[in-house]
Amino acid sequence: MAYKTREWRKSMRVTLDYNNMTDKFLGDKGFTARALSAYSARATQAWHYVNDNRGKDELFMGWTELPYNQKEIVADILQTAKTVRSKFQYFVVLGIGGSALGPIMAFNALCHLHYNDLPRSKRKGPKFYVEDNVDPVRMQALLDVIDPKKTCFNVISKSGATSETMAQYLVILDLLTKAGVDVKENVIFTTDAKKGNLKKISDEVGGIKSYILPDGVGGRFSQLSPVGLLPAAVCGIDIKGLLAGAAYMDYLCKNSNMRKNPALMSAVLQVASMENGKNIGVMMPYSDNLKYLADWYCQLWAESLGKNETLDGAPCNIGQTPVKSLGVTDQHSQVQLYTEGPYDKVVTFLSLKKYGCEMPIPHGCENIPDVAFLGGHTMEELIQAENAATAYALTKAGRLNYTLWIPELNAFTLGQLLFLFELQTAYAGAMFNINTFNQPGVEEGKKATFALLGKAGYAEKKKELDSLPEKSNTCIV
Ligand code: PA5
Repeated sequence: MAYKTREWRKSMRVTLDYNNMTDKFLGDKGFTARALSAYSARATQAWHYVNDNRGKDELFMGWTELPYNQKEIVADILQTAKTVRSKFQYFVVLGIGGSALGPIMAFNALCHLHYNDLPRSKRKGPKFYVEDNVDPVRMQALLDVIDPKKTCFNVISKSGATSETMAQYLVILDLLTKAGVDVKENVIFTTDAKKGNLKKISDEVGGIKSYILPDGVGGRFSQLSPVGLLPAAVCGIDIKGLLAGAAYMDYLCKNSNMRKNPALMSAVLQVASMENGKNIGVMMPYSDNLKYLADWYCQLWAESLGKNETLDGAPCNIGQTPVKSLGVTDQHSQVQLYTEGPYDKVVTFLSLKKYGCEMPIPHGCENIPDVAFLGGHTMEELIQAENAATAYALTKAGRLNYTLWIPELNAFTLGQLLFLFELQTAYAGAMFNINTFNQPGVEEGKKATFALLGKAGYAEKKKELDSLPEKSNTCIV
């Protein structure tokens, strides 16, 4: 059944405005129509690559089908979420990277910004925490504010071999065991179907409720799988709306012509910027709710495109450094650099046409013109004016920038944004002819950690680490 009416869906369409990337607005610092058209054939080829390989697990393209193939899983998740919401006072996600950034992002985007401080009657569900680090101080801080007996722990790890997540799990397991709690009552796993260690652990203790992260879905493309859907549902987020929004963006990107496909156009704008020396991509939402969408995007973009060889094995060292920035807050810290520093950046604004509330600014301080002019406006008008003013200032200074316009923030529009960025990343990777979906650079660090902590099977790696030259005191000041 379609999500809401066709008119409503149309009214919630996310759009891309790239006027401020063109020579019309930027003069010789902008792209001419001809310069952009030069990317057209490559973009269409990338679109075909992504489209032809949709859903292929062996290429890690399973994420393209998540908006369509999870009917039963969604029903199950909603049922579990209902139980968790009534039974527990705390819900804690243990995970890292792709297993954490999505849950953090959706929670921050669609829940009250002080959700955990609201009374239970307003939250209607447990307090929510995502622990994506092994800083002992942070772990202790969590344990200081939760009661493990009243907590549902969602351990999210595709491999079940990620040191950070598994160390956290061991801490929790010990606490639950000492408290006489049956781990099956308070723990839910989200993991790989067959290979992961969480599967083995679950079998050992006689079956822990487990959701499956499908084989063909990598961590950073997993927000629309149970990785993101269960935590979101526990927080009361409309997960059917998220998936419907993703499907709608998929529909908007059915065209292989970049001028009719927002994700493809966005990929082209980024690739063209990179190939013209803009090796920093700033993601700048003008919304506190979208602050962690920038975080999520940074992982998606950095881990997917930061590669040292093409699919044909040619060395390349591709990638663009994503930077997260928050409007208006960072106008008072980073925008000076964006406006007058090196011409090495392209800025993407995430701009809301309508905020969740207006917050009128009362009249006052009438004798002080610097302050009085604000009275009678709303904070929505102020933040929108500052967004427009920053885009103007960047454009005037000849800086590439474009805007994704969001009619309002809800599950449907968030789902559109997620799918747009996932498609954009896949298209850009295809344009560079790299493997968008692996992360050998991350794996190397994981293996070195195993070796340093004496994990069996990593003796050779330990030798490799030990063979590094002695650190020289002359380099320590
Ligand atoms: O995007 C990725 O693949 C990574 O960030 C992983 O999600 C992260 O390393 C955690 O891995 P796992 O889910 O196996 O614990």
